[in-house]
Amino acid sequence: MSQPDRRPVLLIRPDGNERDARALDDHGIASATDPYLVTRPCDDPMPAHRFVGLLAAAGPQTALIITSPRTWGHLESVAGRGPLERALSSALDQRIRVLVTGRGTRGALPGPLAERAETAPNAEALVELLNGTVLPRLRALPVPAVDPVALLPGSAIARAELPEGLRAGGWRVLRLPVYTTVARPEPPASVGPLARGAYSAVLLRSSSAARALAGFAGPDGVPAGTLVLGAGPTTSATARALGLDVVECTATDPTALAVEVAAALGAPGPSGGAADELGPEHPSRRADIAGSAFLRAARGERPERTPVWFMRQAGRSLPEYRAAREGTTMLESCLTPALAAELTLQPVRRYGVDAAILYSDIMAPLGLAGVGVDIVPGVGPVLDRPVRTEADVDALPALTDEALEPIREAVRLAVAELGATPLIGFAGAPYTVASYLVEGGPSRGHERTRALMHERPEVFARLLDRVAELDIAFLRAQVLAGASAVQLFDSWVGELAEDDYLAHVQPASGRVLRAIGRLGVPRIHFGTGTAALLRAMRDAGADVMGVARDLTLSRADELLGGATPLQGNLDPALLSGPLADLDAALARILEEGRRAPAHIVNLAHGVPKDADPQVLARIVDAVHAGPHRKEGH
Ligand code: CP3
Repeated sequence: MSQPDRRPVLLIRPDGNERDARALDDHGIASATDPYLVTRPCDDPMPAHRFVGLLAAAGPQTALIITSPRTWGHLESVAGRGPLERALSSALDQRIRVLVTGRGTRGALPGPLAERAETAPNAEALVELLNGTVLPRLRALPVPAVDPVALLPGSAIARAELPEGLRAGGWRVLRLPVYTTVARPEPPASVGPLARGAYSAVLLRSSSAARALAGFAGPDGVPAGTLVLGAGPTTSATARALGLDVVECTATDPTALAVEVAAALGAPGPSGGAADELGPEHPSRRADIAGSAFLRAARGERPERTPVWFMRQAGRSLPEYRAAREGTTMLESCLTPALAAELTLQPVRRYGVDAAILYSDIMAPLGLAGVGVDIVPGVGPVLDRPVRTEADVDALPALTDEALEPIREAVRLAVAELGATPLIGFAGAPYTVASYLVEGGPSRGHERTRALMHERPEVFARLLDRVAELDIAFLRAQVLAGASAVQLFDSWVGELAEDDYLAHVQPASGRVLRAIGRLGVPRIHFGTGTAALLRAMRDAGADVMGVARDLTLSRADELLGGATPLQGNLDPALLSGPLADLDAALARILEEGRRAPAHIVNLAHGVPKDADPQVLARIVDAVHAGPHRKEGH
């Protein structure tokens, strides 16, 4: 068989790309995510209001059918949360039936509704369930002869099979279009790399995706060497009509679809992952840790108090750190479990921050794998030998499970002392770690790294893939040993343009983030100077986006469509200035954070070494005191 195509598959759905990306991961197929579509509420608000009225008046003869995770959110935004909740609670009291398709859809519903919902894998199964089982039972009820009603709120451009199938079975079907899917207002950054052949394929999952691709890429925008894959006959027919040369796939479920994509690309069979690796004893499953302010905010909830921690909270600004570190090198201290655990705990004891971060370094996994690296005080990581050629990349050692034992032990020791405070595990993202490897040490503009990216993209991709493998091993070890969240630091990625990020970096970062997403812990992603990349970094698979100082939290929230919890972003420079300025900046950040889906307070970058611990303590206390509340409550 010929060499499999290693270029990433481009995913362009408005959301929900992560499930496809994970299924492709199982076949070793890289992917990049750049939505070409957005969903928004329909211009006409009447169907949403009508839905609320119908729900409020519904009885046992009513079936509520929800087929997309987007539906409920759009209903809330048009009809208002209060009226919708009241109508729902009366409908549930009246014992309406609730049916949903897909696990993702159920997960997006409010608790009481999700609890009541019966789940079908797809539209055909839903029709069968409603016509074959539900309808005969309703007909047998001793109620006046009213037609059973199917309420079907959803997309204005939904396909007609479901309502037609239900009508044929005898339901009165009320379709209520509440949202629609349209091409993104501005051209996506991946259009350039796509035209230059950076992707092995584009996956189309809907007719609107086909139209968006044809619109943005133009008639010659997809080169001959890039496949256009259509999921299902309708999407493929639309794409064909638009002049795209489509490979039609029959499956629409991500797992089955990935098998067909793999076959089209000549990739090997699936490797598959184990389910629920953490088990019920994992710290993140304990009520006190799961219910902590930090983890609640990371899941997008609004805990009573806003959580706060600091990047590089363990370190030279603390006298107890300097004392404990005396006589050991940085990397030695990371690999001495009792010391690493102690340094992890110090800032939690001193400040009462809402999360600990493991004391380690982004270069630690390289050291553990046997790469010659030192962390030189006042300089940073320095490599014995830079990695610049294909042979250098191939010579990089892998990380064995055994080598990770000191990390696991440090995590276990720290978690045993942390009580209800969650521990964050971390790693340096493939680009940032690769920049140290290629440059051989800290560097201003990372010119050699970007030269490798442009001149030898296949070597660069291989390098990032190798780092991604180290990252996955390092992060998995931390989580399996007891960390309840992770942060992936891509400190220097902000120097890239969005199209280069999408073509050369996001596939590797996405692989790392998804591998940890499988474990079920929240993933924070952070870089500096990332205004142009924030959305693409989130789409790599982050649950929380760290914001540096090039953006206000409000602007970051806007860039992310109001959909992602934020972390940040007090400028570390304020720590040494007048306290009044610091207090004012903090008040503004808290205020902006309240308008985001959720907020974790942090600095915009690491704690500087000359920071005054008392100033950090003041920030923690101010955040925990909360806003001055008016009118009781
Ligand atoms: O946040 C924490 O408290 C956890 C520990 C942590 C360290 N490094 C400990 C450390 C974390 C999360 C890191 C991440 C890290 N390391 C990053 C990404 C975050 C960022 O700042 O953008 C990067 C780029 C590195 C690489 C690195 N390691 C640098 C640039 C330096 C500073 C070198 C210097 O002396 O100026 C280090 C050393 C390092 N890592 C120290 C600590 C506490 C200082 C070492 C010492 O005290 O001698």
